[in-house]
Amino acid sequence: MKTYRIATIPGDGIGKEVVPAGQQVLEALAARSDTFRFEFENFDWGGDYYRRHGVMMPADGLDALRDKDAILFGSAGDPHIPDHITLWGLRLKICQGFDQYANVRPTRILPGIDAPLKRCKPADLDWVIVRENSEGEYAGIGGRAHQGHPIEVATDVSIMTRAGVERVLRFAFRLAQSRPRKLLTVITKSNAQRHAMVMWDEIAVQVSREFPDVKWDKELVDAATARMVNRPASLDTIVATNLHADILSDLAAALAGSLGIAPTANLDPERRYPSMFEPIHGSAFDIMGKGLANPVGTFWSVVMMLDHLGEADAAKSVMSAIEQVTANPSLHTGDLGGTATTTQVTDAVCKSIAAHSRSTLAT
Ligand code: IPM
Ligand code: MG
Repeated sequence: MKTYRIATIPGDGIGKEVVPAGQQVLEALAARSDTFRFEFENFDWGGDYYRRHGVMMPADGLDALRDKDAILFGSAGDPHIPDHITLWGLRLKICQGFDQYANVRPTRILPGIDAPLKRCKPADLDWVIVRENSEGEYAGIGGRAHQGHPIEVATDVSIMTRAGVERVLRFAFRLAQSRPRKLLTVITKSNAQRHAMVMWDEIAVQVSREFPDVKWDKELVDAATARMVNRPASLDTIVATNLHADILSDLAAALAGSLGIAPTANLDPERRYPSMFEPIHGSAFDIMGKGLANPVGTFWSVVMMLDHLGEADAAKSVMSAIEQVTANPSLHTGDLGGTATTTQVTDAVCKSIAAHSRSTLAT
């Protein structure tokens, strides 16, 4: 029996509701499996920890995570702590500390979801966005001088390294190659940003030679937003810089019906460190503590975690449980226009997993 060691970090806001829901789903799976089990360790890092200790996570926090097989993360964000502190003190510390350079964001219109695009059939929107996750606009390089004076100056310098760009492009080409359409769109802004973005375009041409069977094209990020709305079926796998893909992935999630559904994997494809899985939505303080959060984004992240762990069958059974549940409007949470609670959705997914496993065992 294989044991997977999973770190859970609920963080702030509704993260504290959806991460336990995700754990419940993993436990439901394990209860039915005679090949794997999970060992969870929970970390109470985030805004409350910051109020007690003055930091979002302890200085040796990464060491506590290092030997885990994966991390399930909720969200970081607190109305009483500046956003750049919560972000840099926890989520980015883990992403950058563990060099999780490939951020993967699949988007589909799941069964039963009423997506906003009039002319878009569910099959037209099936994307995976790959976000460069270790440098670029999130490199944290910059500073401020003359603070508070009229001549104050501030810089955020975007850093693009050849090695960093090459590895994320190679990852994206490989991912595109593994999908049925073998289609990749490389998004930049190389008309206006004439150094680093031009380098991206050049490296894309170089890396593409390793993948002759992948069809690929280039798009500028502004034009990409229009293309996502007007010609969704012309896209499949997408790769972009840290900030561009951050913005595009919110658009993608909204076009697929709700931010509450969208998942993320922060991957170290070389597996030197644990990878981290999280819903894309934030801490959503307006609904926290009410049991109204949509746990589907976390469940889909759990699917990505299982795939990463090599448990493809388990991943499939969670995904089909999710799709059964989204197909039923009485199990839609508020973000989808319904009235279901986090617990109702979670129980339904767990029940479906149990039923599915029983039928698999019976055959
Ligand atoms: C995301 C989020 C974060 C980001 C926020 C919470 C800082 O929007 O994961 O897309 O910008 O990376
Ligand atoms: Mg974002």
